[in-house]
Amino acid sequence: MIKVADLAWVRFTAPDLDEMERFLLEFGMVRAERTDEALYMRGSDPDAWIHETRLGEPGFAGLAFDVDSESDLEAATQIDGASAIELVTEPGGGRRVRMTDPDGVPVELVHGRAPAESIPMQSTLPLNVQGATPRVGARQVVPKGPAQVKRLGHVVVVSGDFATTSAWYEANLGFLRSDEMVLGDPDNVVLVFFRCDRGSRPADHHTFLCVGVGEPGFEHAAFEVHDIDAVMAGHDHLKGAGRDHLMGIGRHFLGGQVFDYWKDPWGHTVEHFTDGDLFDDSHKPERHEPQVVLGTHWGSAARES
Ligand SMILES: [Fe+2]
Repeated sequence: MIKVADLAWVRFTAPDLDEMERFLLEFGMVRAERTDEALYMRGSDPDAWIHETRLGEPGFAGLAFDVDSESDLEAATQIDGASAIELVTEPGGGRRVRMTDPDGVPVELVHGRAPAESIPMQSTLPLNVQGATPRVGARQVVPKGPAQVKRLGHVVVVSGDFATTSAWYEANLGFLRSDEMVLGDPDNVVLVFFRCDRGSRPADHHTFLCVGVGEPGFEHAAFEVHDIDAVMAGHDHLKGAGRDHLMGIGRHFLGGQVFDYWKDPWGHTVEHFTDGDLFDDSHKPERHEPQVVLGTHWGSAARES
């Protein structure tokens, strides 16, 4: 069975690449490549790119996952409706298999991308927290400007056929369930937090979230930043740039991340997060009521628009 290792990228379409690039720079990404038709943006981790915008009507255009081996790619060609193995001609190259999920969302599985050089993370000095005092004799300095994005962390999609779609991801991509949401009846699961099965290596609490309530389609994509100061300073930067804030700052109950949600210029939701929970393959899923799933330890969970 294929077990995807992580998210690779997300694809969008939009009618103005200049405007998307301005927003994503303010959001904390860096340009990887720009052509007449497409904009590729990256974070500071070595992934060659994590966000593509292609010229077109605004919309979500799909997501990709990394797999650990060429044999996983070969196995992926056996999934119903999958393509043959193809070369990726975009930054970093690699090989891929294309397919669509039961809702028609384009999904790619990718292997063999060439790593880009990491970009050094700007950081605060060590924090005097939890009883430790590593910072003595120095004033704290928080870097001003965008929250430097490290990597793509998770994607959330609302399915028009939740049972079929969640089963498709579980069966074909080898996801484990981290947590589930039930509605009304304790057996009526309508939302699943999926994480990658990396065996004893820890994985994010959720890499893909499949939702069975709401308007079908893309819900949000989340990008990890360095620390809580980066979330806070990045919030000030986006606010100062007049960008459209949606929700936060807060800390989720499920997943544990400190979060801050924004809208891109065409209304796609993108999230900054940091300090999320990590689990290996021993964690067993639990079922929760909506107030737990939507709840926070602190901070706002209410949407501002
Ligand atoms: Fe999220």
